[in-house]
Amino acid sequence: MTDPTASQAGPSVYERVGCQPFFDALVDRFYDAVEADPVLEPMYPSDDMAGARARLAGFLAQYWGGPTHYSDERGHPRLRMRHNPFTIGPIEREHWLAHMLGSVRMADLAVDVSEQMVAYFEAAATAMVNSPIRVAGPEAGNA
Ligand code: HEM
Repeated sequence: MTDPTASQAGPSVYERVGCQPFFDALVDRFYDAVEADPVLEPMYPSDDMAGARARLAGFLAQYWGGPTHYSDERGHPRLRMRHNPFTIGPIEREHWLAHMLGSVRMADLAVDVSEQMVAYFEAAATAMVNSPIRVAGPEAGNA
C-alpha cells in the first residue's frame, strides 16, 4: 500500500500526529494489550517483543508518510506474506483490531486523521486474514 497522504499538499499524517513519538506510543499501548491477550500473545516472539514493537512502529510511521527506516531495514513490507507463518482467522483479526482501535482512540487525534486510521486498520486487518477458522489454542479444550 502507498502513503495515502503523499499526493496531497500540506503536512503528512505522520507530521500532523507528531511524528515518530506518536507511532511509538500507539504501538506501545497496542502491544501492552496484545501481551495481555491469551489469543494473540502466544503468536508473538516473547524473546523479541522490543523488536516487534520497533518493526510495527517503523512500518506505520513509514506508511503514514514518515521516513523509510522500516523498508531500509526490512525491505518491501509484503505484509500478507510476512503473516503467512501465523494462522489469522476472524477471531485473531477481531482481537488485533480491538487493541489497535483502542489505542487509536486513546490518542488525541483530529477527527479526520482518526477516521483515516480506523478505516486503514479495518481494511488492513481484513487483508491479513489467511484462515477461515482458528486453530485450537491452549484454552480450546481439545488440544
Ligand atoms: C489481523 C490480525 C493480525 C495478527 C494476528 C498479526 C500478527 C502478527 C505477528 C504474530 C507478527 C510477528 C511479530 C514480529 O516479530 O514482528 C506480526 C508482524 C507484523 N505485523 Fe501483524 N498481525 C495482524 C495484522 C496486522 C496489520 C493489520 C498490520 C498493518 C497495518 C500488521 C503489521 C505488521 C508488521 C509491520 C509486522 C512486522 C513485519 C516484519 O517486518 O517482520 N499486522 N503480525
